[in-house]
Amino acid sequence: MLQDQVRIFTNLYGLHDPGLKGAMKRGNWHNTKKFVSMSREQIVNEVKASGLRGRGGAGFPTGLKWSFMPREVGERPHYLVVNADESEPGTCKDREIMRHDPHLLIEGCLIAGRAMGCQAGYIYVRGEFIREREALQRAIDEAYEAKLIGKNNKHGWDFDLYVHHGAGAYICGEETALLESLEGKKGQPRMKPPFPANVGLYGAPTTINNVESIAVVPDIMRRGAGWFSSLGLENNTGTKLFCISGHVNNPCNVEEEMGIPFRELIDKHCGGIRGGWSNLKAVIPGGSSVRCVPAHQIVDCPMCFDNLAKLKSGLGTAAVIVMDKSTDMIKAIARLAYFYKHESCGQCTPCREGTGWMWRVLTRMIEGRAEKREIDMLLDVSRQIEGHTICALGDAAAWPVQGLITHFRHEIEARIDQYTANPDPDGAVSEKVAMEAAE
Ligand SMILES: Cc1cc2nc3c(=O)[nH]c(=O)nc-3n(C[C@H](O)[C@H](O)[C@H](O)COP(=O)(O)O)c2cc1C
Ligand code: SF4
Repeated sequence: MLQDQVRIFTNLYGLHDPGLKGAMKRGNWHNTKKFVSMSREQIVNEVKASGLRGRGGAGFPTGLKWSFMPREVGERPHYLVVNADESEPGTCKDREIMRHDPHLLIEGCLIAGRAMGCQAGYIYVRGEFIREREALQRAIDEAYEAKLIGKNNKHGWDFDLYVHHGAGAYICGEETALLESLEGKKGQPRMKPPFPANVGLYGAPTTINNVESIAVVPDIMRRGAGWFSSLGLENNTGTKLFCISGHVNNPCNVEEEMGIPFRELIDKHCGGIRGGWSNLKAVIPGGSSVRCVPAHQIVDCPMCFDNLAKLKSGLGTAAVIVMDKSTDMIKAIARLAYFYKHESCGQCTPCREGTGWMWRVLTRMIEGRAEKREIDMLLDVSRQIEGHTICALGDAAAWPVQGLITHFRHEIEARIDQYTANPDPDGAVSEKVAMEAAE
């Protein structure tokens, strides 16, 4: 288990003062001037050397992303944008940072801003996060008052930070939709290229990073890239906030070393699986957008980007959704399909039409009111959505369905057999029969 002194997020549970005084006691804002005085290249190289990969879902190397910003600031200003939309189902880590450790994020913004030549940063907060936005704004006000940020601040790099409140759309977490929304337009993803590092917010060079990615930067600078990269596994370094929900005895958020095996994560922090390990059915390890993994494949899997990718799933946002044998997998994935149908922005035909189509077919499959040939048809449609859309919401909608068919095709077939043998007079199979079929 990760030692307390190794933790970056020492106020994750809000047991201490989230304000400036408390934050400084925990070591925040210590030596910041030294880091801000370093050259842009030095900071970027330190973040590169730490091996930090983005915590927003895709795991793109953070230092490399920063290096894509133009070397010199020309006529167009450079912008840092922090993605605090946190709408991925199962994910609830960035909200804890904003509520309980906001100064880590603010300090990280200043350092990241300096590293990319940005003198303004925008934090785009999910619409439903009212209290989180207030807590963050309080901390920003404190930082301004103490001259830690703003014009002529103590650190010698002018940097303004603005909080923007979204309106509660999942798609606004996609980085280019977020930029559109920030500009006051409808939150619809942009075609890439051009990439935001060239043409981003208001047409200016912009880097978008997740809250957690930015909040770990001050510790990387203070404790050194070598310290961060010594944690975790090769190419999957550092600590990570895991959000564990579902059928465990104690669902929780916890900071752990990247690559901790699934069984250890659950036993040490969640008191095990509800009903014991033999009751585990499947896990969605990275938020709703990744493929589910059946119990026997996940139990000993190191929880990191590369090992979960080998299982054709992903670490995503590290929102670990645990499902025991009481779970109706078809119903669970159908519910996710409804979510993606609801959140599609409608720009691309495969996503706009395909998400609704998949949801409708899955809804029939919950009852068994389908034909077996439709399973392959469903798989085929999911593959026609995957990779054929402007943004990754299309993939995110396709992957849960593909995971269901890959690992639980037998349950869909059994449900269809059950229904075919015993359809209710009104056309709906009873809940009890459906549950039995799922066993
Ligand atoms: C539909 C969709 C929703 C997303 N939602 C979020 C989100 O809520 N928060 C987030 O940080 N990244 C989200 N992302 C990923 C962002 O587009 C982007 O990759 C990320 O903010 C980059 O930060 P990172 O490099 O620090 O991970 C989403 C992507 C997609 C396709
Ligand atoms: S994939 Fe879906 S959400 Fe993304 S741009 Fe296309 S229609 Fe919109």
